[in-house]
Amino acid sequence: MLVTLKEILAIAEERKIAVGSFNTPNLASLRAIIAAAEALNQPVILMHAQVHEEMGLCTMEEVAPIMLAAAKKSTVPVCVHLDHGTDLDYIKRGLELGFTGVMFDGSALSHEENFAMTKEAVRMAALTGASVEAEIGSMGAREGGNALDMDNPESIYTDPDMAVKFVAETGIDALACAFGTVHGMYVREPKLDFDRLGKINELVSVPLVMHGGSGVSVEDYRRVISLGISKINYYTYMSKAGAEAIMGKTFTQYHDIVKAATEGMRIDVENAIRVFSGL
Ligand code: 13P
Repeated sequence: MLVTLKEILAIAEERKIAVGSFNTPNLASLRAIIAAAEALNQPVILMHAQVHEEMGLCTMEEVAPIMLAAAKKSTVPVCVHLDHGTDLDYIKRGLELGFTGVMFDGSALSHEENFAMTKEAVRMAALTGASVEAEIGSMGAREGGNALDMDNPESIYTDPDMAVKFVAETGIDALACAFGTVHGMYVREPKLDFDRLGKINELVSVPLVMHGGSGVSVEDYRRVISLGISKINYYTYMSKAGAEAIMGKTFTQYHDIVKAATEGMRIDVENAIRVFSGL
């Protein structure tokens, strides 16, 4: 069943869980995610990231109809979400295609520009009924890359007071906050700033989102969920699981590679959803 980001995050808040939010740069990952969510009877978010266009895997126009068809026929609530849209034209195209959630990522902009463009994204999304996620602070590296090994990461973490202002002025439905996770493979164990997250959770009323959500310990997942994280973005370690499922094996047919990788991703996603749902 296709639902909006706001609707699926309301389910998460009510059940005190986080909804797993997975990138789908191809049909194999999409099928793996839906199979895992349905096996566990849990809501799930399918995401197309703008940055995946640069990886040459698929365009939004190619993948959106498949994501939407899978969501509509699924037995569980599914949101079809645009991940890290960095320009408003791209967001507009996504809304026209039928995405039920969009993330405007203005983290590389000045605060003034981020506020103004996020407001515009909220105005545009209201026309189609989609919900908006936006970010203040930065995760340090884009998806698909390797996480940065920064000397002074706190400098780009979300400031709780700025977060309050951002949510109030823009009218967003969900806030992505930076508190120690990063996109891509971790080059050292992530150290999460739980005090900062707790403070943001106390001050901000909309659901909170953790990006860079793969590669985190089970204990830390549980702790961030208890501190208000309702959506966990997860891709790198699912993709790694797909690669590991075929590594070192010999195949003569391409479709057997796809099947084995899909199964590897399905198992990884199922494990993640189990933890995020407290199962
Ligand atoms: P990972 O790179 O940790 O899987 O995070 C993905 C993500 O945050 C997509 O927005």
